[in-house]
Amino acid sequence: ASQTLQDTLLSAIRTIPDYPKPGILFRDITTLLGDARAFRRAVDELVQPYAGAKIDKIAGIEARGFILGGAIAHQLSSGFIPIRKKGKLPHDTVRVAYSLEYGIDEMEMHRDAVQPGEKVILVDDLIATGGTAEGAVKLLGQMGTEIVAACFVIDLPDLGGRARLEALGVDVHTLIAFE
Ligand code: PRP
Ligand code: ADE
Repeated sequence: ASQTLQDTLLSAIRTIPDYPKPGILFRDITTLLGDARAFRRAVDELVQPYAGAKIDKIAGIEARGFILGGAIAHQLSSGFIPIRKKGKLPHDTVRVAYSLEYGIDEMEMHRDAVQPGEKVILVDDLIATGGTAEGAVKLLGQMGTEIVAACFVIDLPDLGGRARLEALGVDVHTLIAFE
């Protein structure tokens, strides 16, 4: 019998209490990535709305957004841009500070990674407060890109990230929610 998308994802995502800090329920996608069927299913579902669209680049957020974003870029025949934690990229960068569910940090992308007007899809594994994704949207916006959508496997709606991105005018696409 064919499993529903929700069943496939629910059984493939592992929850770790109190990681990386007390009180956080960490939604771990390493088990999903290690499950060939679930990994393919997640990538197929994320690309499906954009099949046939001309997307210049996928921007993936370090680190888990790199894995999904690389697979999505291949499937859509798009380029890939890494958005990295500060200090990791070798050439000229634009940088932004951001906060997330369990900390604060700074992220960067190369100034020459995108051209004004290019169509970009932002990818990460999960949206919680949306602080990380909002930082990435700011970087891409500064460079004059057209953000077609932001895609995530997991939404934590109680933390408000989706609403925060939508308030910025970004289309948000997620596959499964954990309350
Ligand atoms: C996690 C996740 C998102 C972010 C979401 O990354 O992969 O990037 O948190 O949280 P937010 O919506 O509250 O901003 P993390 O910073 O733990 O980095 P990692 O992927 O390098 O482990
Ligand atoms: N990033 C922010 N909050 C998270 C959570 N609860 N699980 C996994 N990654 C996260």
